[in-house]
Amino acid sequence: MTILVTGGLGYIGSHTVVELLNNNFDVVIIDDLSNTERFILKNIEEITGKKPIFYPFDLKRKELLKQVFDAHKIEGCIHFAAYKAVGESQEKPIDYYENNLFSLINLLQEMKERNISNFIFSSSCTVYGQADKMPIDENTPLKLPESSYGKTKQMGEEILKDFATAHQKKITLLRYFNPIGAHPSAKLGELPIGIPNNLVPYVMQTAAGVREKLSVWGDDYPTEDGTAIRDYIYVVDLAKAHVKALQKLINVSSDTLVDIYNLGTGKGSSVLEVVHAFEKANDVAVPYQICERRAGDITIAYANADKAEKELGWKSETSLEEALRTVWQWQKYLETREK
Ligand code: WQD
Repeated sequence: MTILVTGGLGYIGSHTVVELLNNNFDVVIIDDLSNTERFILKNIEEITGKKPIFYPFDLKRKELLKQVFDAHKIEGCIHFAAYKAVGESQEKPIDYYENNLFSLINLLQEMKERNISNFIFSSSCTVYGQADKMPIDENTPLKLPESSYGKTKQMGEEILKDFATAHQKKITLLRYFNPIGAHPSAKLGELPIGIPNNLVPYVMQTAAGVREKLSVWGDDYPTEDGTAIRDYIYVVDLAKAHVKALQKLINVSSDTLVDIYNLGTGKGSSVLEVVHAFEKANDVAVPYQICERRAGDITIAYANADKAEKELGWKSETSLEEALRTVWQWQKYLETREK
């Protein structure tokens, strides 16, 4: 069965392609390489011994997209391709709306015209904003996200709900909490292109001396140690959830057209807990300084992931420390990789 994976050379996309190939799906990747590098494709082949088909263009190019659907019998799609830097989205909101929404709409036009079902959308816990109570389950009311990035995720979900209803197509929305970690082979991971926005790649680069100090954005939150709490989920566990969701779409007839799942560990960790866990897991030091809060950040978010366990037969299996150990191995790989 051939699955189209957009953004399939990206961080979560590449780990998901590995799991799809390991489960004997055929994979076609479209990636514009705007937030990744081409060597990731070679590493996917080294890890799996299989060669996914790869097209290097962005989904706004409708003609090229049509040619891919003409050339392959695509029977499902996992859509990762999107700009995702929260801060950048505040500076360039129109670029984010154009890229993230036009890409999705072009894809759905093709799915509709060729009557293809089985669509999985990479969404995010950011659609909840600062939820009123923890843990966050799928019935938690959505709030308008602070960032344009988060709004494109929320709008994407709304577009997909209308698409599913109008065309009777089965859609799955996967709301990730905070993905972290790297592949056990150390050949895939979060490629820090430019200054990392996210916490864990910044911690990694600080421990490696690439960055002088980590800025801890605020220690005056109403939490035990004053720093903000998130639900850090290991990227390979997250990738496996996509295969489970796809298998459910294909094999299980359900009366609901749109299924929504929170993908998290169900456990919250503070920024300082992550820093100290990284130091302990890898026997390294991570110098940091306490700074002002980052605009738009919420205090706390962690998942109730019971629904994914019950309906997908999936749960996160990897501890924070184990995930952080893979990050350090990835950093060492990046340092030794011949350019
Ligand atoms: C985590 C915590 C920061 C960097 C966003 C998106 C989400 C997802 C992941 C896109 C926060 C603190 C961070 C640093 C710090 N998708 N931090 N110093 O903001 O929870 O989620 O990224 O990739 O959709 O909303 O993730 O890793 O940026 O921050 O103190 O240098 O670490 O303030 O409390 P976030 P994050």
